[in-house]
Amino acid sequence: MFQQDLLKGRAIFLTGGGTGLGRSMALRFAELGARMYLVGRREEPLKEVCAEIHRAGGSAAYTTCDVRDYGAVEAAAEKAEQQFDRIDTVVNNAAGNFIARTEKLSPNAFNTVVGIVLNGSFHCTQAFAKRWIAQKLGGNVLSIVTTYAAANSGSGFVVPSACAKAGVLAMTTSLAVEWAKYHIRLNAIAPGPFPTEGAWSRLMPSRQFEEHAKDKHPMKRFGRHEELANLAAFLVSDMAEYINGECVVIDGGQWLRGAGEFNDLLMLPETAWETLEAARTKKS
Ligand code: HXC
Ligand code: NAP
Repeated sequence: MFQQDLLKGRAIFLTGGGTGLGRSMALRFAELGARMYLVGRREEPLKEVCAEIHRAGGSAAYTTCDVRDYGAVEAAAEKAEQQFDRIDTVVNNAAGNFIARTEKLSPNAFNTVVGIVLNGSFHCTQAFAKRWIAQKLGGNVLSIVTTYAAANSGSGFVVPSACAKAGVLAMTTSLAVEWAKYHIRLNAIAPGPFPTEGAWSRLMPSRQFEEHAKDKHPMKRFGRHEELANLAAFLVSDMAEYINGECVVIDGGQWLRGAGEFNDLLMLPETAWETLEAARTKKS
């Protein structure tokens, strides 16, 4: 469906590009001609994805960066510009999340997720937008949120994430208007369930819950990475020039069947929560 050079000439700064959906988007964008600049906290996965892109003949570089730290984001932005001259697109994909009974959360647990998701997305967006406004050249921001980020949804048991992702959505719609005059476009994607090690290890408490989630899904299946990567490629491409301030849901109709992906954890008995919490305490 796409021309192979759809993203030729583009330079994309993508957070959390070493794993999961970030990795899949990085590989797809590079295949479509984009130069990729990847950031995350761990070097190894970033290095591996860059090597994979190089092997396929693409262009990619990385630096480690904790998006919670504005100074670190500024430093990464500098390096990215040195590498590719100008970055024209930011993809806010990095996230932190886990399931927990909200009454048991520590203030630091809440702040950690909000710091990565909301502050991190703001840091990356603002660091590059400042440059784009000064350069008078415009830019493009895509943020990966969740279906429970919608104001009329939310979800129990992932409250820090729901609050933070709702904030990212508010940032997207607000800035789509404020910065349109600078030719800066901001959009979001709200994915349903897409199997990744990062999400599954933290959010699926048991095989049984995973089966339940699939069984309840109207299409009886989870998302495929290429489905999301193609939607993302379209939204950041010039084909979507008039799409601004939008959030596209890609979940096979899941949330229409019942908002709040993790509300069904209400079925988990107290004893199951106690076991999960004890297992986590033992590790740390
Ligand atoms: C309760 C928890 C917790 C848990 C951590 N904390 N895990 N509290 N339940 N399961 C608390 C800790 O006790 C600590 O508080 C605070 O959170 C910070 O924890 P650290 O381990 O020190 O933080 P850090 O090393 O920075 O790691 C961040 C993280 C971790 C978010 C906790 O999970 C992470 O690195 N995640 C990145 C990847 C990720 O989450 N991917 C999933 C994205 S999926 P105290 O008070 O003890 O100091 C997604 C989509 C959802 O978002 C939809 C899917 C269908
Ligand atoms: P993932 O593989 O765990 O991806 C999260 C990435 O964020 C990791 O590469 C991680 O790398 C990076 N990251 C975390 N904290 C960071 C920080 N402080 N600074 C910089 N990078 C950081 O999970 P995923 O499932 O692919 O999730 C990708 C995106 O999709 C997230 O925004 C998530 O909320 C969203 N999403 C996923 C699903 C799903 O079903 N998978 C559904 C809805 C939405 P490091 O650990 O090396 O930093």
